[in-house]
Amino acid sequence: MRIAMIGTGYVGLVSGVCFSEFGFDVTCVDKDAAKIEALNRGEVPIYEPGLSELMVKNAARLTFSTDLAVAVEEADVVFIAVGTPSRRGDGEADLSYVYAAAREVAAAMRPGTIVVIKSTVVVGTTREVKRIIAEAAPDKDFSIAANPEFLREGAAIEDFLRPDRVIVGVEDERGEQALKTLYRPLNLRQTPIVFTSLENAEIIKYAANAFLAMKITFINEIADLCEAAGGNVQDIARGIGLDNRIGAKFLHPGPGYGGSCFPKDTRAFAALARRLGSPVKLIETTISLNETRIASMAERVVAAMGGSVEGRTIAILGIAFKPNTDDVREAPALTLIPALQAAGASIRAHDPEARESAAPILSSLTWCASPYEAAEGADALVIMTEWNEYRALNLTKLSELMRGNVVVDLRNIYPLEEIAPHRFDYHSLGRPDALRPRHSDGFAPAPPRQVGGTGQA
Ligand code: UDX
Repeated sequence: MRIAMIGTGYVGLVSGVCFSEFGFDVTCVDKDAAKIEALNRGEVPIYEPGLSELMVKNAARLTFSTDLAVAVEEADVVFIAVGTPSRRGDGEADLSYVYAAAREVAAAMRPGTIVVIKSTVVVGTTREVKRIIAEAAPDKDFSIAANPEFLREGAAIEDFLRPDRVIVGVEDERGEQALKTLYRPLNLRQTPIVFTSLENAEIIKYAANAFLAMKITFINEIADLCEAAGGNVQDIARGIGLDNRIGAKFLHPGPGYGGSCFPKDTRAFAALARRLGSPVKLIETTISLNETRIASMAERVVAAMGGSVEGRTIAILGIAFKPNTDDVREAPALTLIPALQAAGASIRAHDPEARESAAPILSSLTWCASPYEAAEGADALVIMTEWNEYRALNLTKLSELMRGNVVVDLRNIYPLEEIAPHRFDYHSLGRPDALRPRHSDGFAPAPPRQVGGTGQA
């Protein structure tokens, strides 16, 4: 079976390469000629662990091309994996790239082609694509399917090859059989493949992302509550996460969720729901709490530094919205840094991969080649992204390099026991910031403390 993957963005490229790993011949298509040339030279445009190795391994089954018509004409299955950015103004997803690709596919495809929507699209889009293709190519019989992705950046290869489940919206036997064949390698792992309607598949994607965004926002609020009440959010997360109905994952407090999916998808979901007259108020609240939280992180740093950062130097470790990616889309660091600069601070920044993508967006800061270089002469150090290389820093060296001693750990990556022997004035999220003896029942209440401007309205 031959696949054409339209769009070599994050989702299209990872999916195309992984389908070649499954043994299929794949042509990845993009309008961006420079990108296709680079891919043909073996250069990978994004940082994603394992991707370039898989590209090399499956080179014989992978083609990169700007010629959509040829790729589609040769294909049995065509995936549309183009971008669906937020539309300016109303937050709804901009579907124009999807519809434009559908028209081009219609013109080039052979009768009997299976057209699969992989882009994240709001309910009703796949049916509209079907209508567009049927109108543009009335003589060509085809099948339509919706196959949303659930890939996490930084773990996308793993997520594709070993998913929890695969969701497929289909309308006919031919489409179902084709998708069953494509995902057959997952049978070995007994991965559930859920066949459902086109609309259900579309809603599942948005509902899954919205739920996860809500879960993160929930634990962020519990972290704030712990600060006020004197609890430890990590103990709370473990205590509730052991309940299988809740689950332990996505209960790590942070500076607010970012990235290319959660912010955009929650906004699109909420906007669509409002338009349909069935608002999703939990998600609307999630969106606004998250925006407030991201904006409030600067106040947290200012408070940790005694109320002013004027003339102070702050080291920022991590710009990417999460580790193992160079993606800075909606990264909380992009809000934090300008806010601290506006308050008079100088910034020394380090990120293992994201410097190139962040450099055009951030200005007037000093880029450093290592976390230690960033710490040199800094009055405070802020951990924004939980890169592995920040988890085992030489704390003695760090404290010698720094001028001040404030550390704001917005990912809670340091156990309090590790911090305790050092001279740091350490601040984290939802935890007592210094070790206290435990009560016999294991709970160590802290005196309620006031964190300057946690931003909770
Ligand atoms: C997400 C979904 O997980 C994936 O299924 C979907 O297809 C695309 O969107 P991604 O954006 O790559 O993936 O990263 P994810 O690991 O989900 O993290 C998203 C954001 O939430 C990051 O900013 C991360 O730091 C934050 N997060 C995540 C937390 O703050 N706490 C957590 O416990 C988990």
